[in-house]
Amino acid sequence: MIELAEVEKSFGGQVVVHPLSLTIREGEFLTLLGPSGCGKTTILRMIAGFEQPTSGKIMLDGKDLTHLPPNRRDLNLVFQHYALFPHMTVEDNIAFGLKMKKFPLKEQRQRVEEAVAMTQLTPLVKRYPHQLSGGQQQRVAIARAIANKPKVLLLDEPLGALDLQLRKNLQSELKQLQRSLGITFVYVTHDQEEAMMLSDRIVIMNNGQVEQIGTPREIYATPSTLFSATFVGENNIFSSEGRLFAVRPEKLRASRQVDDSKRSGEIMDVLYLGSIHKLIVQLDNEPMTVSIVFDLTDDRPWSIGDKVGVDWNAEDEVNIGP
Ligand SMILES: Nc1ncnc2c1ncn2[C@@H]1O[C@H](COP(=O)(O)OP(=O)(O)OP(=O)(O)O)[C@@H](O)[C@H]1O
Ligand SMILES: [Mg+2]
Repeated sequence: MIELAEVEKSFGGQVVVHPLSLTIREGEFLTLLGPSGCGKTTILRMIAGFEQPTSGKIMLDGKDLTHLPPNRRDLNLVFQHYALFPHMTVEDNIAFGLKMKKFPLKEQRQRVEEAVAMTQLTPLVKRYPHQLSGGQQQRVAIARAIANKPKVLLLDEPLGALDLQLRKNLQSELKQLQRSLGITFVYVTHDQEEAMMLSDRIVIMNNGQVEQIGTPREIYATPSTLFSATFVGENNIFSSEGRLFAVRPEKLRASRQVDDSKRSGEIMDVLYLGSIHKLIVQLDNEPMTVSIVFDLTDDRPWSIGDKVGVDWNAEDEVNIGP
């Protein structure tokens, strides 16, 4: 559906996106995930046409888009800071793009109505942006984009400005919307939990480079680099005989048999996190702590200062480098 072939971007001689090749499938929810400054927005802006790649090609449905202006691409971009027109009502904001494209009035009305219903804005259509909450304004921005019925929707941290509860609500709304519309979503976030929850596939970026591409399950279970292993979910990194591997906290076991265990240490903290317990263990002979998570059916009373053996099964070691 969308194909990036060796797409690269430099600003003033400095590479901010290293050559990137990626195929985005039709109807897929694909997320670009990475820390601030890693190049996510730049990639989205190149797909949208607001930025030209320094080299490489971008194709949509087999057509080369690389040199087409944004308005000739069949896709829509929703920004982090929703730019609504303050002097227009909700429905006029949503209809704006359709008016510009000179759609017949009847079709404009019908599309606005559909978009408004899907984003649950029907009671608010006569209001102005300043009469709406942040989440409602963001829904208007999304409604405006889907009213255009683009093949692809590009979303740049669309929930970034919202508080946690609202974010959670809109996350599930967005996912449902994407499923029911069947539109391809390319979504940008630096929130790993959001990426895990929404995506069919995640592209993990770091410093302008792809670290890993995979389903949320693949990324969690078999991270392929140190960065992936530690950026998504908590992880414990061990090195042994020149090899680096990761073991998730829930795959570690704490035991009283200190001498028979792979590692040993001292408990620095015991955390009760609702359904799970967590031990923070300072390892002996190594300047690192590990965290061990177990569920509440395991009620051995651990205390700070206890000596503890740390163990795991060899098959739960995930290699992440030489
Ligand atoms: N027009 C520009 N001129 C020069 N440098 C730029 C320009 N736009 C972006 N950059 C640089 O490119 C790098 C990537 O920026 P980008 O906005 O893509 O990051 P991001 O991953 O979206 O970060 P954030 O999560 O903070 O939004 C940054 O180092 C940024 O300073
Ligand atoms: Mg950005």
